[in-house]
Amino acid sequence: MPVNLSGRNFLKLLDFTTAEIEYLIDLSAQFKNLKLTNTPHRYLEGKNIVLLFEKTSTRTRCSFEVAGRDLGMGVTYLDPGSSQMGKKESIEDTAKVLGRMYDGIEYRGFAQSIVEELADNAGVPVWNGLTTEFHPTQMIADMLTIKENYGYLKGLKFVFMGDAGNNVGNSLMVACAKLGLHFVACGPKEQMPDPKLVETCVELAKESGGSVTLSEDVEASVTGAHVIYTDIWVSMGEPDSVWAERIRLLSPYQVNKEVMAKADKDAIFMHCLPSFHDLKTTIGKDIYDKFGIPEMEVTDEVFTSKQSKVFDEAENRMHTIKAVMYATLK
Ligand code: CP
Ligand code: NVA
Repeated sequence: MPVNLSGRNFLKLLDFTTAEIEYLIDLSAQFKNLKLTNTPHRYLEGKNIVLLFEKTSTRTRCSFEVAGRDLGMGVTYLDPGSSQMGKKESIEDTAKVLGRMYDGIEYRGFAQSIVEELADNAGVPVWNGLTTEFHPTQMIADMLTIKENYGYLKGLKFVFMGDAGNNVGNSLMVACAKLGLHFVACGPKEQMPDPKLVETCVELAKESGGSVTLSEDVEASVTGAHVIYTDIWVSMGEPDSVWAERIRLLSPYQVNKEVMAKADKDAIFMHCLPSFHDLKTTIGKDIYDKFGIPEMEVTDEVFTSKQSKVFDEAENRMHTIKAVMYATLK
């Protein structure tokens, strides 16, 4: 059956079939080709979208803005703190108002339940641009990036190092389980994904031919890996007071040249970004002053190496967000 996502929300990958996710990855590659060949694609001329951000962003915001304009749409950005949502107006009322004016709504913020409530009340497609639990648009870009490097996804060994229970770790586990990759969450037991989500993904992986493994053993996890992925150790919305504990728990899971040497010889390094790999950020410097560590989840050497695909991945956010908006609004 042909895939038709018209009118659908994009809230988490668990809501989509394998065929639907594969369709979005392939559609993203088509949009990338149109962009790179300067072929106009104003397919959604006359539509308008609103971007509701309760947390900061570079990639996600810019991707939605550029993708929206490339598709011919009007784009409104509401920054953290400049809408009435939550403070003077309920999520339900906000959704009803925005749904009367816009053809689609992007939300980045806190609980997954907020984006779900927006979607229940908006009457137009709602896209999740990151919640505490999930980051599904990132996944389409990540899978496109892997496919560009390997030509396929099924059967690859994918290792997430570090804070595996965060929004990116959770979403990667779902993406891999749906698409038949062998997913390994490599980190301390305190930072593993929610057991119920793990159980769901183990079942999904049985259907797709993939697998899900949780491990505290770095050497066993990274040996033969095709993709080594990591994310920051403290996510947006978490208090600064957790840094000391996270550094203690996650330092053994830093991606460095020893880790990359144990992976497959053609392995790639990935990171959703932003990343603390040097002292060129205020938080990076602050952590160095307090804890004496100049690099965190990944060393600068790996981040800047040939194996690192982080900027392809960042670019792909735009092409894949375009595909998600087009598929749901067309
Ligand atoms: N990867 C990602 O979502 O980046 P931003 O926080 O800059 O949007
Ligand atoms: N886990 C990170 C991802 C940033 C794109 C965060 O939520 O801050």
